[in-house]
Amino acid sequence: MKVRKAVIPVAGLGTRFLPATKSIPKELLTIVDRPTIQYIVEEVVASGIDQVIFVTSEGKSAIENHFDYNFHLDAVLKEKKKVVLGEELNNISNLIDIVSVRQKKPLGLGHAIWTARHVVGNEPFMVCLGDDLVLSKIPCAKQMLDLFDEVGESIVAIQRVPQSETFQYGIVEGEKDAHDRTFKVSRMVEKPAPGTTDSDMAIIGRYILMPEIFSILDTTTPGHGGEIQLTDALLALTKKRAMYAYEFEGTRFDAGDKMGYLKAIIAYGLRHPGLGKQLLEHLKEIVAGQ
Ligand code: UTP
Repeated sequence: MKVRKAVIPVAGLGTRFLPATKSIPKELLTIVDRPTIQYIVEEVVASGIDQVIFVTSEGKSAIENHFDYNFHLDAVLKEKKKVVLGEELNNISNLIDIVSVRQKKPLGLGHAIWTARHVVGNEPFMVCLGDDLVLSKIPCAKQMLDLFDEVGESIVAIQRVPQSETFQYGIVEGEKDAHDRTFKVSRMVEKPAPGTTDSDMAIIGRYILMPEIFSILDTTTPGHGGEIQLTDALLALTKKRAMYAYEFEGTRFDAGDKMGYLKAIIAYGLRHPGLGKQLLEHLKEIVAGQ
């Protein structure tokens, strides 16, 4: 079955990025010349997804506005003969069909995804976290969709992390599978206490999920941090159906974290066709002056 829809949860409070996120959603913080969320929507569009479902909350309507048509701005740009800029803005509003659902309370990622159940319906779907960026030759979502065509079961994207950092992630354990960069998941645990797992395979913000996840989330009780954890529901799903962990090709940035955000700006800035060279020179000057 084809994966047609991508759920992008953007309803979190973004407390790690306060005070910047007091009134601006972290998903709208700028990486070079566009907000984080635009890179993610562009990734799913480039991967062949037909519809995006934003899970939003109070104070996040600027995200929907960013992808909407802005009549006044368009008129002003036309009057000022700023044709290229006007086209670029209109392209954003024509990128993809977007639907929004509201998560009334930030009860956790599992709850955010459950909120989208009626719009997703009974079909496999993609989940991309609204603050997780992946820089890669082939879009990360596309790499996963290609694997899904072969395995037809849920997939979580993973990256290797040092043992000292496993407590910050959902960690999966599993055996290598015949497919390239792929593991059959046997166990997963959210933010494991040091010494409780030997695995260094950390779940990042890209998933393909079978719709059974919704009935599991119906009865998932709050876990780590008092939130309804997606990882707990994923573990329950592994007991019903196969699940795969895929070590994607590319570099991932947690743009909801201050250091991750700074790294993302530098990485995206360096590969920007108009700015990259100049930025590199500037960085060299800074390093030389240290
Ligand atoms: P995070 O784990 O980064 O949570 O969520 P957060 O609450 O936004 O940020 P901090 O930890 O307080 O700084 C990952 C993604 O899931 C969404 C967030 O908007 C983010 O894009 N999310 C999280 C929800 O939509 N609802 C939630 O209840 C929690």
